Amino acid sequence: RTMSRLVVVSNRVAIPNEHGAGGLASGVMAALRDSGGIWFGWNGRVVATLADEVNTQTDGNVTYATLGLTQRDFTDYYSGFANRTLWPLFHFRPSLVDFTRSTYEAYVRVNAHFAERLAPLLRPGDLVWIHDYHLIPLGAALRRLGVLSRIGFFLHTPFPPSELLVTLPVHRELFEALLAYDLVGFQTESYLKAFREYIVGEANGEINERGVISIRGGRHSVRAGVFPIGIDVDRTAEQAAAAGELEPVRALKASIGSRALIIGVDRLDYSKGLPERFKAYAELLDKETSLRRSVILLQIAPPSRSEVPEYRRLRRQLERLAGSINGKLADADWSPIRYVNKTYRPDVLSGCYRHARVGLVTPLRDGMNLVAKEYVACQNPRDPGVLVLFRFAGAANDLRGALLVNPNDIEATARTLNAALDMSLGDRRLRWEESMAALRRQDVTAWRTRFIRALAQTSGSEEQDY
Ligand code: UDP
Ligand code: G6P
Repeated sequence: RTMSRLVVVSNRVAIPNEHGAGGLASGVMAALRDSGGIWFGWNGRVVATLADEVNTQTDGNVTYATLGLTQRDFTDYYSGFANRTLWPLFHFRPSLVDFTRSTYEAYVRVNAHFAERLAPLLRPGDLVWIHDYHLIPLGAALRRLGVLSRIGFFLHTPFPPSELLVTLPVHRELFEALLAYDLVGFQTESYLKAFREYIVGEANGEINERGVISIRGGRHSVRAGVFPIGIDVDRTAEQAAAAGELEPVRALKASIGSRALIIGVDRLDYSKGLPERFKAYAELLDKETSLRRSVILLQIAPPSRSEVPEYRRLRRQLERLAGSINGKLADADWSPIRYVNKTYRPDVLSGCYRHARVGLVTPLRDGMNLVAKEYVACQNPRDPGVLVLFRFAGAANDLRGALLVNPNDIEATARTLNAALDMSLGDRRLRWEESMAALRRQDVTAWRTRFIRALAQTSGSEEQDY
């Protein structure tokens, strides 16, 4: 009996030595590092014409099989339907949803193209694990090509309630495609609940007493479950402990001196609550004048999806906001916000987290939020910082020791930030230990092994003997 091979598919593949930002890539990378396998998807490049061949490159036990997208597919599939339609819909922002038939057609077309390129690489007995909202129809497209392997799907983002989903004109065709999988996974119980309600209420599905889902009267059945993504806790902690030696981390420490550092690290995305965060911080400095000159907020915000107008608008808004807060409060030798539009390497980031007294993580909605988990794992056990977390991130279910705040209450967030800066060493340690224990229970190995085991246990479409 040999182990079956793991084939991971996602729109974005984190090719070795090319840095990007995103929880999916961090999580999949950590999972594949353990188990080995193939990672198939887009290489992040725009190409003049679609090449037939898939580029492969092997690094350790992982083979990266990647392809480019044409300008048209990049615009319509990636920037269009995936990021102007599904992303805002899944993050509870219907007013930002932009739907057109042509971008939906591009989305279906690219999924079919991925299926055609992937199918020849598959072997009987492979476990195929597809990730995220870019690739919802991929499982069905593979089935149409005769692929019999077990295929699972994991959604990294939130899954909103039916009332929101049905505002999408193609909702039924799109979400019924989820029923072609053998296993569908979500980050939290509430997203799983929303999925079940949608399937029964809108998609003519049924759920039997064992929780197995199928189209009413259909033969194929789907399992659905909750698999919260985590991090490699020990590796992250070790990286942070060693990061003090890295030049950028030294330079950061020297420039902060004895002041307290508050850190935020997010892709420049409207789901991350960045304007609210800046406003809460300004409110804190406004009320607690004694804190002026003694704190600094470092907001690392690498630009993301900058072809999408809503992201460009947010960028302009943050530039204005950071500029006006700094202009109003700064002095010749201190400015309150350092706002940085750059992507940092994970090892450098870990050193920055460790040096920060407070981790400020304030998404309005987030499937999980790995930055919150990384911040905790990177702390110095003898003198840990405090995590301030908005309640609507998936991570808020796990991180029991965090100070939870409501995204829409700027004043209360400012007060909580103050309490975090003020917290005694004893309280900080207690809260940190509580969060660390939760991180260890739900780490990245647990995420991968639970999902893969559940997928392997589905009845699947092929008779497997391996
Ligand atoms: N990240 C990074 N460099 C940066 C900013 C972020 O490597 O400059 C990583 C970060 O460490 C985390 C991921 O990108 O692992 C972001 O994941 P998260 O779940 O917080 O948010 P997402 O971007 O997936 O919405
Ligand atoms: C989130 C999504 C991922 C995505 C990442 C970065 O984590 O869930 O699917 O890869 O953001 O976004 P990008 O558009 O650059 O891939």
